[in-house]
Amino acid sequence: MTGKTILLVIGGGIAAFKTLDLIRRLRERGHRVVPVLTKAATEFVTPLSVSALAGEKVYQDLFDLNDEAEMGHIELSRAADLVVVAPATADLMAKMANGHANDLASTMLMATDKRVLIAPSMNVRMWEHAATQRNLATLTKDGILTSGPNEGDMACGEFGFGRMAEPMEILAAAESALNDGPLKGRHVLVTSGPTHEPIDPVRYIANRSSGAQGAAIAQALLAQGAKVTFVSGPADVAAPMGVDLVPVQTAAEMLDAVNAVKDVDVGIFAAAVADWRVASASDQKIKKDGNGLPVLDFAENPDILATVCASKSRPKLVIGFAAETQNVVENATAKRKRKGCDWIVANDVSPETGIMGGAENDVVLISANGAEDWPRMGKGQVAERLAMKIAEELGG
Ligand code: C5P
Repeated sequence: MTGKTILLVIGGGIAAFKTLDLIRRLRERGHRVVPVLTKAATEFVTPLSVSALAGEKVYQDLFDLNDEAEMGHIELSRAADLVVVAPATADLMAKMANGHANDLASTMLMATDKRVLIAPSMNVRMWEHAATQRNLATLTKDGILTSGPNEGDMACGEFGFGRMAEPMEILAAAESALNDGPLKGRHVLVTSGPTHEPIDPVRYIANRSSGAQGAAIAQALLAQGAKVTFVSGPADVAAPMGVDLVPVQTAAEMLDAVNAVKDVDVGIFAAAVADWRVASASDQKIKKDGNGLPVLDFAENPDILATVCASKSRPKLVIGFAAETQNVVENATAKRKRKGCDWIVANDVSPETGIMGGAENDVVLISANGAEDWPRMGKGQVAERLAMKIAEELGG
């Protein structure tokens, strides 16, 4: 997607320095960025650096007669395709929620007829304050979109929610708001969650996959404009709004569901599929009848990923996952070859990593070009980065 105009309102917060990177990333994607600085923002970034990065004049003062003659604040707010507010401070959010219009930024936010995306950024207590949460609810009701905030260390030394979303996340949210992401027109199949393999009607064999990474990937792909078919086992995390959800229980059902999906450009196999099922699951509850312990016979489940890779209708790009507890890169590299997929997202799921069922992931991306080590980050960020990489690969 190129050639969109984004009116970027920069609020007065320490995260304004990250907005400089956002400007660069928006421009790399071919967008025009028209910056507006609040008075407080100029305490954190200079109009000169913003103007140099944007390659545009910076708008600052509501009552600048020259600016008004050139392009008035109403016109400025309408000329954009999208308005992005980053960082959106507690004060800016309060102004927006209450309809204040006492400087150029707030006046334009009132005057615009375009969608508005805010990237909140503030101290964790300020974020959690009832007033901010009330304002957020009002803004959400008004149709304002949000990206972040994320949880993490803060400039003030505290820890919690309030860190501005990363520039790549804001970029993805902005492109999604423009409803025209780089994966527009692409169909992506994602498998996610564990599978449940029945022993009898009330018991089953399962694993600890929460489905969080798969759901985050589906969400990131939607944000990039893709159509997503989400084949999910019984996960803890709900499927994101907007996917075509196909709920399944067992590996066999998952394979059938995957085979039934047509015209797939990219297949992402994030499900933790059980390797074995009980060969002859009982159709009655197995009783403790005093005749000794029950014996379970196992049969091997179909390998869905390998089956898809070997099929005539193999998607152009197939991505597998490898959850390992030792020799991650070696095992995942061998697995990529064995299964015939293009990329493997490998991670160490040893209990001490806290990855399985946790909020973060620490992955290595294995491709024909070797192993790419990603820093530990939130599962949402892993998903954003993967979605961006897919878009690049497909030439989006
Ligand atoms: O062999 P392993 O389970 O480690 O392989 C992991 C990858 O293969 C994941 O992408 C997983 O979704 C996929 N897989 C599958 N069907 C299976 C087992 C694994 O699609 N039966």
